[in-house]
Amino acid sequence: MAAIETIVAKLKDHIGKDVVIKGWLYNRRSKGKIHFLQVRDGSGIVQGVMSISDVPEEVFSLADRITQESSIIITGAVKEDKRAPGGVELHLKDLKLAAMSEEYPLGKKDHGADFLLNNRHLWLRSKKQHAIMRVRHAVVKAIRDYFDERDYTLIDTPIFTPAACEGTTTLFEVGYFGDKAYLTQSGQLYGEAAAMAHGKIYCFGPTFRAEKSKTRRHLTEFWMVEPEIAFIDLDGIMDIAEEFVEYIVHRTIETRRAELEMIERDISKLEAVRRPFPRMTYTEAVEKINSLGTEIKWGEDFGAPQETALGNACDKPVMVHHWPSGTKAFYMKRDPNDERLALGVDVIAPEGYGEIIGGAQREDDYETLKKRIEEHNLPVKSFEWYLDLRRYGSVPHGGFGLGVERTVAWICGVEHLRETIPFPRMLYRIYP
Ligand code: 4AD
Ligand code: MG
Repeated sequence: MAAIETIVAKLKDHIGKDVVIKGWLYNRRSKGKIHFLQVRDGSGIVQGVMSISDVPEEVFSLADRITQESSIIITGAVKEDKRAPGGVELHLKDLKLAAMSEEYPLGKKDHGADFLLNNRHLWLRSKKQHAIMRVRHAVVKAIRDYFDERDYTLIDTPIFTPAACEGTTTLFEVGYFGDKAYLTQSGQLYGEAAAMAHGKIYCFGPTFRAEKSKTRRHLTEFWMVEPEIAFIDLDGIMDIAEEFVEYIVHRTIETRRAELEMIERDISKLEAVRRPFPRMTYTEAVEKINSLGTEIKWGEDFGAPQETALGNACDKPVMVHHWPSGTKAFYMKRDPNDERLALGVDVIAPEGYGEIIGGAQREDDYETLKKRIEEHNLPVKSFEWYLDLRRYGSVPHGGFGLGVERTVAWICGVEHLRETIPFPRMLYRIYP
């Protein structure tokens, strides 16, 4: 019977049968008349056992010569083996070489961060990076499923924009046929227009910020998902953010337990992420942070030390709301009971991973919004269309943005955002 072509992840369905696997040599050990070949194909790693008596002589000697990361096609019988990872191994009958690999630069020894980042195109093959990318995929899928299951319409917002959404200091300027444009910092303003057309929408795509400081929490290109909802207030926005984060975490645990175990994430910490999350006003948070021994004055924005202190003090994400308006963007509505405060919310992840969500109820009054645009020295002309939304059937509305890489870093328990995106873009890095 002809061997069945399959992938490592599905070998269990073929016990007792002959299969063909296409992949790369991950590792080899040889013991006299037996080679143990570890082969990875992207879906998993399987051990192939080759006995000198089971294969032609030239196949056995090829197995002796092939180098790590050579691309190969193997044929063998699937044998159940409870001790093997994945529960199976292959008794090899054939091995074909697709291409011999040169000496692989990412050996088994430890490498520095710079070396690994310069070789990101190869580093992606390593077990840990492979697992993180699979978690990222699960997070992205959970994000889409959450909104798709709840009648949100997906709206793709533009990358080239004429104006700033999140402040002018982090804008990337690009030439636009003799004019200036900027890479988008957030799809929100367009999301607001779409919410007036569809009621509930989300946009999901890359966003860009010229972050000029070197931190482990900032990329210059990152992915953000942004729901925007008509007829909602700040409390309603917080309810959604809370349910959404819980959903992402638990869906990821369900579908990526093996990967989380591989990277040695303490999954019990993620399992504890259940609603309700603690909610506190900015003023309460400032008191709490000071009482924990990290200084902050009322009116100041949180930096990494403040976010870390607060996040470490709770075993669930914390929702901080009612911020001093000076720390927040022009579009946030003010608290009708206290003009000093903006109706914004930040969700801060536990274990020191920092802010994963920023959101707000939006200013919905035409005159007030226009005044804010002017106060922030933004070009009113570029915002005419945005102001129109307050002229034609304005409603209370709002939404939030969740950063994918911050969320993946937290769920995986990895220190630095550079490992959570396939090809990170940072202050000093645009290669490879
Ligand atoms: O808090 P931010 O700036 O909020 C907005 O952009 C709003 N317009 C969103 C909205 O209401 N529709 O950014 C939202 C999230 C942050 O909480 C963080 O997770 C992530 O985006 N983020 C970054 N992630 C990686 N690198 C950076 N430089 C980031 N800046 C923000
Ligand atoms: Mg923010």
